[in-house]
Amino acid sequence: MRLYLSTKNKHKITEISSILSDTEILTFDDLPDIEETGTTFKANADIKSKYLSTLVPDEYVIADDSGIVCEALDGKPGVFSARYAHENATDNDNIIKLLDDMKDAVNRKAYFICNISLAKDGAVIASFEGRLNGTIAHEIIGENGFGYDPIFLLEDGRSLAEYSSDEKNKISHRMAALNKLKKLITDNI
Ligand code: IMP
Repeated sequence: MRLYLSTKNKHKITEISSILSDTEILTFDDLPDIEETGTTFKANADIKSKYLSTLVPDEYVIADDSGIVCEALDGKPGVFSARYAHENATDNDNIIKLLDDMKDAVNRKAYFICNISLAKDGAVIASFEGRLNGTIAHEIIGENGFGYDPIFLLEDGRSLAEYSSDEKNKISHRMAALNKLKKLITDNI
């Protein structure tokens, strides 16, 4: 089977290729900028997969949307995770804002979420969700990873930025969603 990915992110391409090892992975030469206007991760992933699948008739396309959700902030940053501090925010800008917003929060529960949408010829065929539960730290800890990893604490007391990429890949929200996709591909397609 062949699968088009909606990303240029090398890290994601490697991660997806390694788990879907029996699948031919293709990418778009000119990936259009698609506005993420949805209010949920699923809606945004569906918008991207549906549109991109119209560009490659008869082919399967997957698109993903992910982010971090904090209980004490009624679900924020949510679908705005990448641009939480402002439109062109860096990872560091977003972390500083989240630490500030959470400075008085007693409930520090949060989760990373990834939604992967599979589409063909403009229609969504299936979508898959993965989550990783944790808590928001009071400070930046660790140097690995990206995004909110340095302020996301796991049950063992380490931040996600203290995990190696191999360790993170075993437990990540993206891997959980990808494993569900792999199961569908193996069983049905
Ligand atoms: P994207 O949809 O994968 O581009 O992710 C949106 C935003 O969510 C990123 O810019 C990060 O801020 C955050 N995010 C998603 N996945 C992770 C992760 O595994 N670690 C840290 N931050 C993440």
